[in-house]
Amino acid sequence: MRVLGIESSCDETGVALYDTDRGLLAHALFSQISLHAEYGGVVPELASRDHVRRVLPLIDQVLQEAGLQRQDLNGVAYTAGPGLQGALMVGAMIGRSLALAWGVPAVAVHHMEGHLLAPMLEADPPAFPFVALLVSGGHTQLVKVETLGRYELLGESLDDAAGEAFDKTAKLLGLPYPGGPELAALAEHGRAGEYTFTAPMIDRPGMDFSFSGLKTAVRQAVARLSGPPDEQTKADIAAGFQAAVVRALEIKCRRALQATGYRRLVVAGGVSANRSLRQALDRMVKKEQAQVYYPDLRFCTDNGAMIAYAGAQRLLAGEQTPSSVTLRARWPLTELLPPGEAA
Ligand code: KG4
Ligand code: ZN
Repeated sequence: MRVLGIESSCDETGVALYDTDRGLLAHALFSQISLHAEYGGVVPELASRDHVRRVLPLIDQVLQEAGLQRQDLNGVAYTAGPGLQGALMVGAMIGRSLALAWGVPAVAVHHMEGHLLAPMLEADPPAFPFVALLVSGGHTQLVKVETLGRYELLGESLDDAAGEAFDKTAKLLGLPYPGGPELAALAEHGRAGEYTFTAPMIDRPGMDFSFSGLKTAVRQAVARLSGPPDEQTKADIAAGFQAAVVRALEIKCRRALQATGYRRLVVAGGVSANRSLRQALDRMVKKEQAQVYYPDLRFCTDNGAMIAYAGAQRLLAGEQTPSSVTLRARWPLTELLPPGEAA
């Protein structure tokens, strides 16, 4: 089965073709970074309008790259939430219209399920069951994944998501949008231990997170300086901040492995691209005699491949979404069911 996947939940237009026999055939991405940079964050209306401009040319591009015609496709998958309502609407409307015109089924995909399944695109994919750490700009969640669609929330952020904390702290340090990757790059030049921030909530039991206090601690550290921070100080603060986030994530992941007894950890979402996080988790799972799985760096942040993959699994199991379009700006992952199981 060959499926077209469309992702348009935020500031990236992602399109991909996935074949359930041959794997990923092609993918293309257009990032709106330069569009939103001057505003310091995503402007929803600009995002929607740009998705309108990009989706169809990107679909033509992946079809061409894969050497396929539209009649070779057997289904369409689109992100239906969570995300920006207008942006989601674009992908959903185009996806549904194409499916209708081509006479193939369409399926609505949960953006975070897409992230969660992204490591399945790799050569050595994780088997179910596993623990998933989802760390993106909007979510920080630890999920017990029994099988496709059977998700139990073990813990989540009570305030900012990890990616959001990276972005806000980066802004505090005067780094350009999107701050997360910029801050991570700066932290590479920081001296360990120059600035130490307490890893939030590690002394409390449970698997919830909190990152807004950490952002405040950074703001206070900057305010204590006699003037604007120089490059080295910025890097030192970035390193201290990153170390605290990584430590909190690592400790809660270890707890989740211990609590579930599972031996596989999947880490996905934008922050899973973070090198320091990967190093810490690699070390931790070794001690726990477990294994950790990440998406390829291209598929950590938003992309169409993960949506095509997740949609293909659901379409393959006979699921399809009726043509009335329902989009959900908020959508708890735990409301999902395995493919084919009606609510
Ligand atoms: O998954 P994603 O592309 O979009 C959402 O679903 O939110 O995640 C984007 C988030 C942003 O907050 C971005 O700053 C963060 O992931 N991010 C990183 C890194 N790369 C992306 N954070 C830390 N280190 C990175 N290398
Ligand atoms: Zn995402």
